[in-house]
Amino acid sequence: MPSSPPSDTDGAAQFVPEGKSWAALRSAAEGCRGCDLFHDATQTVFGEGPVPARLMMVGECPGDREDTDGHVFVGPAGRLLDKAFAAAGIDRSKTYLTNAVKHFRFTERGKRRIHQTPRRSEVVACFPWLREEIRVVKPRLVVVLGSVAAKALLGPSFKLTEHRGEVLEHDGLRVGVTVHPSAVVRAENFGEAFDAFVADLEAVRKA
Ligand code: URA
Ligand code: SF4
Repeated sequence: MPSSPPSDTDGAAQFVPEGKSWAALRSAAEGCRGCDLFHDATQTVFGEGPVPARLMMVGECPGDREDTDGHVFVGPAGRLLDKAFAAAGIDRSKTYLTNAVKHFRFTERGKRRIHQTPRRSEVVACFPWLREEIRVVKPRLVVVLGSVAAKALLGPSFKLTEHRGEVLEHDGLRVGVTVHPSAVVRAENFGEAFDAFVADLEAVRKA
């Protein structure tokens, strides 16, 4: 029987070169077709930062700006993150930043591209890249920014609101939990949301 050709449902695993360097992973990820998101997005947005790094942060998926620029956290969420890092005493240049899903998911409304939360199936499909990033970056602490990243690493039933500001042990990994910077940008009471975000970052950084 001929083996069936790779399909969208097989996930990223078939595109991940095992045991390779960060540069080899990033380059292989450019050609990933592990789920449908590569169709409409401009490019794969792989994680960036020092390798190895003591601190790694995981967001949700690239936004509109990240999709066109090819870099993580360069849009509004990234600017908020920079402000929060400054307030919490975190050096972005020493932090490896990535996302649970490496392609932008959106719908078009007129000329605007509106971000959509990735589906669980896309998070699962993309997980092999995150797993390999953790292997090569060897972080002492991984901070999950928001529920999508938290569920990617800690399981689908994880409740972010019950654990924000905490550091948990999971599969030999230390995982710090906080909200997504976009949730802070959109918050009704921005000042309060920003202060709570900074407090979470300080708490997990000290842990
Ligand atoms: N939101 C994310 O989760 N990641 C980015 O890179 C940008 C916005
Ligand atoms: Fe591959 Fe992830 Fe992009 Fe899907 S989102 S095509 S799994 S890199």
